[in-house]
Amino acid sequence: MIEVEKLTKDYGPIRALDGVSFEVRKGEIVGFLGPNGAGKTTCMKIITGFLSATSGTARIGGQDVVEHGVEVRRRVGYLPENAPLYPDMTTREYLSFVGALRGIPPDALPDRVRHVAETVGVADRLEQEIGTLSKGYRQRVGLAQAMIHDPEILILDEPTSGLDPNQIVEIRALIREIGRDRTVILSTHNLPEVTATCNRLIIIHRGRIAADGTPDQIQAVHGGGNAYLVEVLPAKDIRPEDVFRGLQYVEKVAALDRPDTDALAFRVEARGEADVRADLFQACARGGLTLVGLRRDRADLETIFQRITLQ
Ligand SMILES: Nc1ncnc2c1ncn2[C@@H]1O[C@H](COP(=O)(O)OP(=O)(O)OP(=O)(O)O)[C@@H](O)[C@H]1O
Ligand SMILES: [Mg+2]
Repeated sequence: MIEVEKLTKDYGPIRALDGVSFEVRKGEIVGFLGPNGAGKTTCMKIITGFLSATSGTARIGGQDVVEHGVEVRRRVGYLPENAPLYPDMTTREYLSFVGALRGIPPDALPDRVRHVAETVGVADRLEQEIGTLSKGYRQRVGLAQAMIHDPEILILDEPTSGLDPNQIVEIRALIREIGRDRTVILSTHNLPEVTATCNRLIIIHRGRIAADGTPDQIQAVHGGGNAYLVEVLPAKDIRPEDVFRGLQYVEKVAALDRPDTDALAFRVEARGEADVRADLFQACARGGLTLVGLRRDRADLETIFQRITLQ
């Protein structure tokens, strides 16, 4: 649905994007994550045809965003970082204006405006001038204008910024709902947002893609290998290390120093991708060991994000 190939963008001497390539399939909800200045907004502006790249290409549904700018804008809904709203228009006037621009027939427009206004929770603000709306309501109007023409693809630059916690939960649910049969790219600084909303994460750092995959895949690749933390109660005449070492997919066992618990703790590294949790559980049961703790030993996304972006 979206194909980005070797995108590079220079603003004078500043290289904001440096050879970014990725593809997004229909129905994916992709989260762009990266520190300030990483290049997220720049990348979104190029995909939506609002900014031209220095080199590289972006295609939407096979169409180059530069050559087919008009069609691309029909198919894409875009919430810019600083949505350019018209302060003197009422919400209804503004949404009708944008809807007409995007080709919605006049007789269908009032229903459509009401529908998107209800969807993002501004139905009670339709007659209010945008300039007098609170920040969160303006953000909702921005979202409404992105969805007014029912686009197949939504590109949302920090969609939940400025929203209250209740509205954040609602907008996340809405994005997941939209993402069922559409394609969404959103940027955020909020890690819980990614796990709550997205099925794929792209970490951008200094204009390059530093990680790309499901949160699970990224944790597997960047989170310190395939290892498990095992805790068992001490048992007379049994050395847990020996029990674990005998297992087929276990590569390495190290005892951990854990003064905070009476249990004995071990870090067990497994070969390749093998998930050895079931084997460990059964080995304990067979060997007469009481298992009191068993989990993957992986860095959480927050730690991984810091490791990648603080380099
Ligand atoms: N119009 C511009 N002129 C010059 N430099 C720019 C311009 N727009 C962006 N930049 C620079 O390009 C780099 C990437 O900026 P961009 O806005 O894409 O980052 P971002 O990842 O969206 O950051 P944020 O999380 O703060 O929104 C930054 O170094 C920024 O200063
Ligand atoms: Mg930005």
